[in-house]
Amino acid sequence: MKLYILNGPNLNMLGIREPAHYGKVGYSELCEMIRKRCDELSVEAVFYQSNHEGALVDKIQEAYFDGADGIVINPGAYTHTSIALLDAVKSVSLPTVEVHISKVEEREDFRQTSYIRAACVKTITGHGTAGYIEAVDYLYENYGKKNER
Ligand code: DQA
Repeated sequence: MKLYILNGPNLNMLGIREPAHYGKVGYSELCEMIRKRCDELSVEAVFYQSNHEGALVDKIQEAYFDGADGIVINPGAYTHTSIALLDAVKSVSLPTVEVHISKVEEREDFRQTSYIRAACVKTITGHGTAGYIEAVDYLYENYGKKNER
């Protein structure tokens, strides 16, 4: 099984940005945690972070052409603005889990809209960086063929 692990704007600043919302784990540490879990499951993980909306659209399309089996995405602030990311996930029809580190539903009004959610098989919010591991486990359990890389 191959999963694309995508992160949007400012998630490269994890560990530095607003620790009260996003914790103290840095982006590279997060990737290591996810890689470790993927290794345990014999899942191949492709990591990508960008601050640019179009680059994320390109990567979602790449996941399709690269034969990925699913996507874990934290679109950051593009969650609340981007129809392009919604359309990209709809275009590729890959099972996609939306992850937010913070509990977005308890934050500002402008964070209450998620465009991408309509195209996602699951949404995980407020579980910190553990939410990414839950997303990998969910995709593995529901869409993975066991013991296959
Ligand atoms: C976030 C929540 C978004 O509202 C915010 O813009 C982010 C991070 C989260 O992980 O909690 O950049 O997606």
